[in-house]
Amino acid sequence: MGKLQLILLGAPGAGKGTQAGLLSQQLGLVHISSGDLLREAQSKGTELGNVAKSYMEKGLLVPDEIIIRLILEHITVPQCRGGFILDGFPRTLEQAKALDETGEGQNLVIDRVIYINISVQELLRRLSGRWLCQRCQTPYHMVASPPKVAGRCDRCGGELYQRPDDSVEAVQKRLEVYFAQTTPLIEYYQQGGKLMEVNGEQDISQVNEEIMALLG
Ligand code: AP5
Repeated sequence: MGKLQLILLGAPGAGKGTQAGLLSQQLGLVHISSGDLLREAQSKGTELGNVAKSYMEKGLLVPDEIIIRLILEHITVPQCRGGFILDGFPRTLEQAKALDETGEGQNLVIDRVIYINISVQELLRRLSGRWLCQRCQTPYHMVASPPKVAGRCDRCGGELYQRPDDSVEAVQKRLEVYFAQTTPLIEYYQQGGKLMEVNGEQDISQVNEEIMALLG
């Protein structure tokens, strides 16, 4: 498989972070998660982090101009020349168009968009059971993929925590925002002939196998 530039698209809790982590190891791609970058900025207390926090805790999207600048800064670094996987970006038509416009001039054209399709009922089950590593952001699920040692990350030993925006109220808002602002991207990439849909309701390994088979 040559150099790949991929997008993972799906609702909150669809498994984007989980699959992006696996694919980046299997395919040697740089994993760029917009949510992780924003949470990192928050924990460092930067100006960007403080602005992002006020939107994230309510389950709203951070303004397009902020997130577009942040992601373009990250995908244009030399480490991404071997390929990358975008997780959580783009999330609005404006973001997708900004990525396309930059891509054309800078060899950053997206090859495939992997859409992880999953029901609302399953999303709610997943987000309520999710724990993440404070240090490396690896996601766990208390039932589907628990850590070997309770409260500790299998990969780095970091402490596990629950995201504040996984509260019932914030999740409800995140889903509303997803259906209003992000689902138009499914048609956008379908028209561009780049969309590959996978069944996100399967086990983590089965979803991964389906994606790898589609990537050929
Ligand atoms: P972000 O961090 O991107 O959150 P999200 O899109 O809401 O997605 P999640 O991280 O919640 O879910 P996921 O699909 O990665 O699922 P995961 O693999 O963890 O964004 C957070 C906020 O930042 C936004 O609300 C917004 O404010 C801001 N933001 C980010 N990007 C932005 C942008 N582009 N524009 C504007 N604002 C932006 O899996 C979930 C759980 O399920 C885990 O516990 C996992 O272990 C489990 N699981 C995964 N797969 C399976 C499976 N197949 N079977 C069973 N369990 C599974």
